[in-house]
Amino acid sequence: MKKGIIIQASARSEGNTSKIVTFFQENTNFDILDLNTKNINHFDYDFKNSDDDFNAVFKDIVANYKTIVFATPIYWYTMSGLLKVFLDRISDFLMKEKDIGRKLRGMNMAVISCSDYDKTFDGFTMPFVESANYLGMEYKGHCHTWSEDNKVSEETKTRLKELIVNIEKED
Ligand SMILES: Cc1cc2nc3c(=O)[nH]c(=O)nc-3n(C[C@H](O)[C@H](O)[C@H](O)COP(=O)(O)O)c2cc1C
Repeated sequence: MKKGIIIQASARSEGNTSKIVTFFQENTNFDILDLNTKNINHFDYDFKNSDDDFNAVFKDIVANYKTIVFATPIYWYTMSGLLKVFLDRISDFLMKEKDIGRKLRGMNMAVISCSDYDKTFDGFTMPFVESANYLGMEYKGHCHTWSEDNKVSEETKTRLKELIVNIEKED
């Protein structure tokens, strides 16, 4: 079982979120999954999208990792559309192949948000906290981040290191 995977959910692979993800990766050795490089379609009640990339991605995550770290830019006060679609698609595995969906139970979830400032918005973490609770995952916390002069800010580095300590605490 590998330690963790960072799910990078920015609409660009080399943007601000990616800088943060790189710093986090260097300090954890977690793997990175860039959702921007995957073909993951919207949830469909008839599972018409089951031949896109989601099935393989999800099965790999639940088989191989202990911790999922969602890293999302703040778009319109909330998570990116890419990440929301990813979360919606988890429903595929709550409706069919439920044994695979149940493998999320006992896994850890943490969240990194990224914008241009030290500012978060009320309610940002609620969907993550509630989803972790619903899925039987342990919520390990949220860290808001931003860059200054095109570099990861020092305050951001400190906060990310605190989140890493929290993730690595024994259950
Ligand atoms: C579509 C869109 C919506 C955004 N909405 C917000 C917002 O609601 N609040 C905010 O602080 N920043 C907002 N931003 C700014 C981004 O959060 C910020 O530039 C972030 O660092 C972008 O990360 P990225 O390069 O990985 O996309 C928005 C940017 C875009 C492109």
